[in-house]
Amino acid sequence: MSDDRERRVGHHADPRPPTDLFRSGRPDRFMLGLARLAARLEPLTARLRPGHPPPKPTGDLSVRVVRTERPSPDIAVLTLAPVAPETTLPAWQPGHHVDVVLDGGVVRQYSLNGDPSDRSRYRIAVRRIEGGLGSGLAHGLREGDVLGLRGPRNAFPFARAERYLFVAGGIGITPILPMVVAAHAAGLPYRLVYTGRSRSGMPFLDELPEGPDVSVRPDDEYGPPKAADLTRGLEPGTPVYVCGPAPLIAAVGALVPTGTPFYSERFSPPPVVDGRPFEVRLGRSGPVLPIEAHETALDVLLRVRPGTPYSCRQGFCGTCRVGLVEGEPEHRDRPTGGAPRDGGFTPCVSRAGEGERIVLDL
Ligand SMILES: Cc1cc2nc3c(=O)[nH]c(=O)nc-3n(C[C@H](O)[C@H](O)[C@H](O)COP(=O)(O)OP(=O)(O)OC[C@H]3O[C@@H](n4cnc5c(N)ncnc54)[C@H](O)[C@@H]3O)c2cc1C
Ligand code: FES
Repeated sequence: MSDDRERRVGHHADPRPPTDLFRSGRPDRFMLGLARLAARLEPLTARLRPGHPPPKPTGDLSVRVVRTERPSPDIAVLTLAPVAPETTLPAWQPGHHVDVVLDGGVVRQYSLNGDPSDRSRYRIAVRRIEGGLGSGLAHGLREGDVLGLRGPRNAFPFARAERYLFVAGGIGITPILPMVVAAHAAGLPYRLVYTGRSRSGMPFLDELPEGPDVSVRPDDEYGPPKAADLTRGLEPGTPVYVCGPAPLIAAVGALVPTGTPFYSERFSPPPVVDGRPFEVRLGRSGPVLPIEAHETALDVLLRVRPGTPYSCRQGFCGTCRVGLVEGEPEHRDRPTGGAPRDGGFTPCVSRAGEGERIVLDL
């Protein structure tokens, strides 16, 4: 099993009630403005910090935006083709995402949602987050722009099965769409429930297979779905794939019978529910930062250094990793393919014991 995979059998571990956590935590405009500026300056400032090379400005693959579509003001659908002619893009399967290297070395993940058999182009869809750095930069891309990619990588593998239940919420359709298309093409029985606030925020409606097993449920037409509507008719043992807001994932996970395979992918980090307070020192003689039980070391680093690089915030991409000088961390990252940590510390997820201090090479 891949280390990247978020896989659960039975109940979902997120204990928070399925209230609208997805819409909570509105970004502080001033801090995000600072973060945006700092990200643009990061390649320069990083060069001035000893021992810290600037973030790689390009990815392993150079691609050009060959098509931009705006199905709604909040969603940009980008088609990307290799800059070098005659280049075949790496193979991918439903569930794969790519790391997109944006202006200033900002890296964000986006799920591939085009046709896996077409190795001449990739397609991604980006929902604009209010005040969001990466999604704002992605929405600024125009046809002809060149950007870097890393991957593809799979944190949400699509396993062969006899039938499926798919549940997607809004932009969460991106990894689910190629799964639905593959199941449909293979003639396998499946049910798709696609939810969202309104049709305008639900991309790819026109690409869904037609039939009684596809249920499109915008909230403004049907009201918010009840959890039981999402899993209605689920036979024990039928694999469930869900991607969308945290409350949707939690609601579906809570209804999946024990022993039934449950696969979910989150686009934003899970809350810290089992943390204890600890301290981080920046270098041997730098300031000491207290980390509260409910926050991550990265949250605190971003407050004092808004340009701190990060990407997945879930401990699998390695973007935020920094050197560990002293202390005994609780490593909670999941390096891709079991890659070694090399004495590093991953502040988006890793912690230290209660009241303990770790010293980072910052
Ligand atoms: C495996 C994977 C696949 C992904 N696939 C897609 C995809 O296909 N399409 C897509 O649009 N996004 C996708 N994402 C999310 C994407 O990588 C970015 O996290 C997202 O675009 C927000 O980045 P940002 O830089 O604009 O926001 P940031 O500047 O990092 O954050 C700005 C504010 O928004 C909050 N925030 C961050 N992410 C979200 C979110 N998803 N929802 C609500 N609030 C958020 C932050 O907490 C912060 O307060 C995926 C993420 C992962 C891990
Ligand atoms: S941001 Fe991806 S591992 Fe920390």
